[in-house]
Amino acid sequence: MTLFSPRIVDTEFQIVDAANPEPEIMAHAGEIIRQGGLVAFPTETVYGLGANALDPEAVQQIFLAKGRPLDNPLIVHIADWSSLDQLVVAVSEPARLLGERFWPGPLTLVLPRHPQVPAEVTSGLDTVAIRWPDHRVAEDLIRAAGVPIAAPSANRSGKPSPTDAGHVMEDLGGRVELILVAGETGVGVESTVLDLTGPVPTVLRPGGVTLEKLRAVIPNVVVKEDLQKSDVGLGTPTGRANEGVPPSPGMRYTHYAPEKPLLLIEGEDGSQPSVEKILQAVDQLRAQGHTVGVLTSSENAALYYAAANPPEYVRVIGSRENMADVALYLFKILRECDLAEVDLILVESFPEEGLGLAIMDRLRRACGGQVMRI
Ligand code: TXA
Ligand code: MG
Repeated sequence: MTLFSPRIVDTEFQIVDAANPEPEIMAHAGEIIRQGGLVAFPTETVYGLGANALDPEAVQQIFLAKGRPLDNPLIVHIADWSSLDQLVVAVSEPARLLGERFWPGPLTLVLPRHPQVPAEVTSGLDTVAIRWPDHRVAEDLIRAAGVPIAAPSANRSGKPSPTDAGHVMEDLGGRVELILVAGETGVGVESTVLDLTGPVPTVLRPGGVTLEKLRAVIPNVVVKEDLQKSDVGLGTPTGRANEGVPPSPGMRYTHYAPEKPLLLIEGEDGSQPSVEKILQAVDQLRAQGHTVGVLTSSENAALYYAAANPPEYVRVIGSRENMADVALYLFKILRECDLAEVDLILVESFPEEGLGLAIMDRLRRACGGQVMRI
């Protein structure tokens, strides 16, 4: 084994009761973390790949197992307030208010880093991202380990995040000591990453806690200006960050992308084009020799099926009336795209309100910034 390849191990599986995790299994998992090993575990958002956040060598193994660029820092997961003191130098008033309102839950706060946090965790930044996950297995794991747990999503770098243990096995089998299997996660998109270290609280990654909910607590929250419409597909920086706010390093890379080419469909004026227009685009692509699929909503699906020449693959992500469902199945459906026997897939847009902001962010990245305006 060289220093730069992942540790190859026999991956152990343990099925855990999500509502009432078996103490002996959790004690075993905690022991693996304390010994410097990796444990994949469910959270309410997606499965995470955990290691002892205070052990630099264990943290390095996370990067190797995922193939993650070293300059993309990790979130540290806690399960009580007192752990914060060893991780951050100060808990500001907004941080306390937001933590009290949304923890445990899908909110990650970027705060000033305590010197005790290894530079490996934060990729050398003087800030650290903290989250208290709302899942009994995650909380019990952190408590059993007795240390804060650094954990990115448990996917190979660049792939959609895992919403069930099967996805973790697909991506990380043989690279993680233990996978805790506890069914599908409940939110489906990752936590909202909120930077509280700059002059204005700034969302670096939209996620499970919506902007609307954050603003109900802290009215002046903004979304990083270049987050949404930028071309993020080519591994290039997303552009200039808002003044005074460091960029979230993870947002630079192509993410969530199946192998299959995906094209996001948007109207010229930013509105959602009609199914009729999308079908015309399908016909045009067909005339160029392509087989074409569509990711759609339950409201529109019947219109595709009823078309004279329906697309070769039609997959419903969820209902426009229920964005929580869209979020829940999004990554699973993105993984399935690779199985569709078509050359490319057109992806409908969703309104950027509530969870729609996170959903559209992930869809843009999954499409590698490729947008078709019709
Ligand atoms: O829901 C989640 O957040 C899941 C579960 C497992 O907790 N975790 C997750 O981690 O999505 P990951 O590593 O896939 O995404 C973490 C994001 C990245 O975009 C990273 O750049 C950003 O958080 N981040 C971490 N530390 C940061 C820091 N100090 N400053 C700015 N961004 C940071
Ligand atoms: Mg991730």
